[in-house]
Amino acid sequence: MSLIAPSILNSDFLTLGRTIEMLNESEADWVHLDVMDGSFVPNISIGIPIVEAVKRVSRKFLDTHLMIVNPEKYVEPFRNAGADLINIHYEACRDKDIKAIFKQIRDTGAIPAVAINPDTPVEDIFDLAEYVDMILVMSVFPGFGGQKFIETTYDRVAALRKFIDENSLKTMIQVDGGVSPENAVKLKAVGVDVMVVGSFIFRSAEPLKTIYELKSLVS
Ligand code: DX5
Ligand code: ZN
Repeated sequence: MSLIAPSILNSDFLTLGRTIEMLNESEADWVHLDVMDGSFVPNISIGIPIVEAVKRVSRKFLDTHLMIVNPEKYVEPFRNAGADLINIHYEACRDKDIKAIFKQIRDTGAIPAVAINPDTPVEDIFDLAEYVDMILVMSVFPGFGGQKFIETTYDRVAALRKFIDENSLKTMIQVDGGVSPENAVKLKAVGVDVMVVGSFIFRSAEPLKTIYELKSLVS
């Protein structure tokens, strides 16, 4: 069974409270919050006050995807805002001690995770798998919702799955970007544990029903 983590990035922020209440009632396992700084990615999205507001209403596990430079500066603020999992980008930490940041995240009580972009060789992060609870293999270039799924993701996930299994690790694999019923079954088959789904849910006529259908597909 794979978990479904709706990304609210493409939802209507004017009615965010109602969206979070809908997600509470839904089959969604987590809520995925996309934090963008206009520097690591060419877009600015939500920040700490929004995570705090979501936390006040949400009964789901909050998965925060930090697409920001210098993530170590914001670990405690996001944890205090209510993040259950804090995911930092490998590419934002090339000149940093990333394992120290994973420990910093764990010390706050949050779960550490690492994300990699589609053009970073997946083998680059194999050595980090034992230090995090989850690896996010991006299936679009981060920055915007509604992009087309990149097909090479299947092979990248399969290679990572093989490494994790061969080394008897428990690291979860997440995929984010362009996920829909068209690719969800195959993603589950190659070993994805958590699927982030944004626009497919929030552009549908009945998001609650769409989540239910997606969940049935990967159960
Ligand atoms: C992209 C974000 C994703 C995105 C997913 O930078 O990290 O979480 O919102 O949305 P869809 O499913 O529309 O690709
Ligand atoms: Zn994301």
